[in-house]
Amino acid sequence: MRSIRLFDLLMGFSRALDMVSPVLAGHHLRVTFLSQALAERLRLSSATRKYMLMASMLHDIGAIPLKSDTRDLIFEHNKALHCRAGWAFCKTAGLPRPVCDMVLNHHTEWCSYGAEDQNALPANCIHMADRLDVALRSRQAPALRDICATLMTKQSEYSPACLKALSSLADDADLVARLQSPQCMQDHLASLFGAVILGPVQLVDLCGLFSQTIDSKSPFTATHSLGVAHTSRMLLKLSRMADHNDLTTMFIAGLLHDIGKLAIPLEILEKPAALTPEELSQIQQHAETSLDLLGSIPGFTCVRDWGGRHHERLDGTGYPHGIRGAKLSLPMRIIAVADVFTALTEDRPYRAGMPLAKAMEIIESMAELCYLDENVVALLADNVLQVNRARIRAQRRAAANFVVMRRLCGDSAGAA
Ligand SMILES: [Fe+2]
Ligand SMILES: [Fe+2]
Ligand SMILES: [Fe+2]
Repeated sequence: MRSIRLFDLLMGFSRALDMVSPVLAGHHLRVTFLSQALAERLRLSSATRKYMLMASMLHDIGAIPLKSDTRDLIFEHNKALHCRAGWAFCKTAGLPRPVCDMVLNHHTEWCSYGAEDQNALPANCIHMADRLDVALRSRQAPALRDICATLMTKQSEYSPACLKALSSLADDADLVARLQSPQCMQDHLASLFGAVILGPVQLVDLCGLFSQTIDSKSPFTATHSLGVAHTSRMLLKLSRMADHNDLTTMFIAGLLHDIGKLAIPLEILEKPAALTPEELSQIQQHAETSLDLLGSIPGFTCVRDWGGRHHERLDGTGYPHGIRGAKLSLPMRIIAVADVFTALTEDRPYRAGMPLAKAMEIIESMAELCYLDENVVALLADNVLQVNRARIRAQRRAAANFVVMRRLCGDSAGAA
């Protein structure tokens, strides 16, 4: 895997967040763009602006586990809870404290801050940008100048410095023009942050945060991605066909393989009855969406190919593209086995995980039917205790993370 730019990864994640609801389309990009325009006028340091980039691109991440009506994010309800859940996500994933604070406070009014709040000003910029975007996308779609005039009257909500910066936005013809074009906003932000390359630890931390987000959409699969990531990395390692870089790529592909599930309505994901053919095809669409989203991140070619093909089957009966045989590489075959193994053995709220022997029986029969690769299945069978121990350890850690997260948000995220 080649070097990954921070901006490209965040852009990919924000695209995935926006897919949760059409109401959110483009929201994270526009809030990022507008908050950076304010930060520029306030001459905030480049370090602060980098933290702002991370926070604004992810700011509504806490809404995913809340099952809230996403219109609530755009309008006024349920503000504190999704801010708190987002903060808890970022904190448990080890993101820098200023990023966590800005996510927590992206709806905080200026008058609520104490003197000791170090990230109040950048968080207030994000808050202002968020409200600007909400007003811009409202049904009446007023002009930027009119929205700015309305916000200028909210003296307790925004800092005097932010209000001053805001007053110069409406007359910035360049900014108004860029706001009309997602590509222009993206290019502009890339020109500001394109040089920031993620180190391997930061990359895995951010992907870990996002995999928690994907899994948190439904308690049915609350730790699934981490289980798949550990299982597939271990199988690839046991195959002795991979170097360290491949193992990291495999781990990330496992973490993000179901990213497309963010676009599937919860009623279908959690439907207690049998799915109609139409609902089934909607569920299956997640694999194609994972391919698209992962493919949109420069440098993620292998992550896309390995992660997005986890439902393909050797005999060509899989999805999304019915790829068969030799066209499925070893990592693709491994992640397909890891996905089935994890799905069968993990505990879910409505059932305990299947005993190992029974799960292996099913997986071996899938190899006999030429769905799964027989050599990968044999590798799993030879090492099943060791692989299963690693899977259980990882999924317990993820479950514990959710408990911490729920506690940090006052238990409401879990209950909602
Ligand atoms: Fe929000
Ligand atoms: Fe928002
Ligand atoms: Fe899947």
